[in-house]
Amino acid sequence: TLPDGLINLADFEGPARERMSAQAWAYMSGGAADELTLRANRCAWDAIKLQPRVLRDLSGGHTRLPLLGRELAHPILLAPIAYQRLAHEDGELASAYAAAAQSAGMVLSAQSSVEMEAVAKAFADEPQSGPLWFQLYWRNDPGFMLELIQRVEWAGYQALVLTVDAPVHGARDRERRAGFQLPDDVRAVNLGGRKQPIELAPGQSMMFDGLMPRAATWREIDWLRTHSRLPLLLKGVSHADDAREALQRGVSGLIVSNHGGRTLDTLPATAELLPVLRAAVGEAVPLLVDGGIRRGTDVLKALALGADAVLLGRPYVFALAAAGALGVAHGLRLLRDEFEIAMALTGCKTPADAGPHLLW
Ligand code: FNR
Repeated sequence: TLPDGLINLADFEGPARERMSAQAWAYMSGGAADELTLRANRCAWDAIKLQPRVLRDLSGGHTRLPLLGRELAHPILLAPIAYQRLAHEDGELASAYAAAAQSAGMVLSAQSSVEMEAVAKAFADEPQSGPLWFQLYWRNDPGFMLELIQRVEWAGYQALVLTVDAPVHGARDRERRAGFQLPDDVRAVNLGGRKQPIELAPGQSMMFDGLMPRAATWREIDWLRTHSRLPLLLKGVSHADDAREALQRGVSGLIVSNHGGRTLDTLPATAELLPVLRAAVGEAVPLLVDGGIRRGTDVLKALALGADAVLLGRPYVFALAAAGALGVAHGLRLLRDEFEIAMALTGCKTPADAGPHLLW
């Protein structure tokens, strides 16, 4: 059953915090360094004002939209979040059942603590389910990557999302202060094998001699394009030139993201990045955005600034911690309802009708 008083996404935080260890809470809720970007994401959506049109005939309105060759029931997906069994023993499986029941898309993290096939089955079992994508981090081992991609394709995932903004860990002060370590029973179960330990000669830098030579470059984008038949999206591109380069290399779409403020601090808010990237890629390219989306009005503002769809991050893992699959489904329903209210009250009939004219 649901705890009482869950009437918006913020209401899940209290119950979630009570149910999680202090370390898990620091990991899930925290950002990088001074958490300026984490806060900026929220503040930027708050600072945008809507401008309604009234007396329009909205009968026949709806929240449906096309995305990568499919029709979505609404523009809300679950963002890839690692190790969800930290929040609830059912982990990503509960999130998947909830997303499928609410026709929300889901991007499964490479660092899922539940097997990718189980998540895919939860989606396949629900006729109304939305799109299911798999998020990758590059690992400098083509054999490993090939096996992983093949497994993702066989399991029925419909797109690959390569996260490009986190080749190394951010400076996660809050996590370190809390002494966060993964418990023994929560693992990235889909990434078999041990990572090669990095050996450095005296005087070498872990960053530039150890980690960065293994990180993805544009060459690896070409490699992924030739080794998978699935559409490839990049998550975490900020510069317009990078966005254009991605398109030239056959990338199918972008997720505008600063990793929820967890990687490089002092990045712009995603509400600021979004219109810049939409202008760079043109009208037709699928563009999604995440970071600080908490209200139906945020979803509508994102669409007005040029996003096709949004991804929800922390709030759904808080809902998962608070009440498992039921909590996540309830949180998604609340956000969908708020989004429909925002559309109705701004005179916006369908997602395709959202545009800058809705903004003050
Ligand atoms: C993340 N995020 C993330 N992104 C990704 O590409 N792969 C991953 O494994 C993870 N893991 C992860 C764990 C946790 C605890 C958080 C909070 C975030 C980033 C995530 O996909 C998304 O970009 C942000 O969470 C969106 O911001 P909000 O909605 O949390 O503000």
